[in-house]
Amino acid sequence: MLVPMRIMLDHAAENNYGIAALNVNNMEQIQAIMEAARETNSPVIVQASRGARSYSQDAYLRHLMLAAAELYPELPIAMHLDHGNSPATCFSAIRQNFTSVMMDGSLSEDGKTPSTFEYNAQTTKYVVDVAHMLGVSVEGELGCLGGIEDGHGAGMSGEEALKHLTDPDQAAEFVKLTGVDALAVAIGTSHGAYKFSRKPTGDILSMETIEKIHKKLPNTHLVMHGSSSVPQSLQDIINKYGGKIKPTFGVPVEEIQRGIKNGVRKINVDTDNRMAITGAIRKVFAETPEKFDPRDYLKPAREAMKEVCKERMIAFGQAGNASKIKMVSLDDMAKKYAKK
Ligand code: G3H
Ligand code: 13P
Ligand code: ZN
Repeated sequence: MLVPMRIMLDHAAENNYGIAALNVNNMEQIQAIMEAARETNSPVIVQASRGARSYSQDAYLRHLMLAAAELYPELPIAMHLDHGNSPATCFSAIRQNFTSVMMDGSLSEDGKTPSTFEYNAQTTKYVVDVAHMLGVSVEGELGCLGGIEDGHGAGMSGEEALKHLTDPDQAAEFVKLTGVDALAVAIGTSHGAYKFSRKPTGDILSMETIEKIHKKLPNTHLVMHGSSSVPQSLQDIINKYGGKIKPTFGVPVEEIQRGIKNGVRKINVDTDNRMAITGAIRKVFAETPEKFDPRDYLKPAREAMKEVCKERMIAFGQAGNASKIKMVSLDDMAKKYAKK
């Protein structure tokens, strides 16, 4: 059943685990996530960016998600908008059955220029007010991630991004002003495969910032973006079969687990799945160049993504929890919000 993301994050907080939020653009990615979730009894957060929505078209995406809900009735599923750049984008997602939206007001509407605190708080609060009347959950973001390779982000280098970490005092004020259900924080990560040129330590990945924010906001669900681990094994498969991934390091799973101990409930992962798919497809192309039926390479691609999803679901602790979550409809959630 499609449910508001908030109920899952509340359950995760009560039981000290985190939930992977997995990006999708097509049917095979949705299938990979749903199978991984069924095999591990995990609650599901599927998310689509603006780019994903225009690539797959809203109507296809909506029906694929409705199909997932029909085929996996035992699993709670949140359909989340990743990096909404404006209230209009968030509201159009809600009209397409999304049960959760991110209003990323850390950047201006162009999705590139860092905005002001005032703009961010005001815009996010507006989205919260409307979304909550409909029972839809809202994630906000304070501070800026590094990188721009996926088309959104302020284009900062890792060093510059370190100057834009989330300030814990401002975070407390932001949550009070906006009433967001979840807060994405900047701790030195960036989107994409090229995050760090060495295994990250405290000077380039500030898990301390998370700990400080959690102390100020013990009841707020924190979100880590740019959380792919970019495992060496996936880099190797791609490169072995003709790819050209330069040496790079992602966010180690142990660091994410440390975050989960400090209030992180939603962990955004896209790149690892993209890499798993690419590696599997390259392997088929390299080993059996005579094949041309898309199913011959999409099946192994889907399988490879499923394995990554399962590994993360187990590592983040969401495995085993789907059947323990009481499903709540958007209408009931709207009533709950109205009482607050
Ligand atoms: O936020 C980043 C996600 O990986 C989505 O990327 O905008 O290329 O779909 P995208
Ligand atoms: P990765 O590029 O590290 O997978 O991050 C994805 C993300 O943060 C989506 O919002
Ligand atoms: Zn992100």
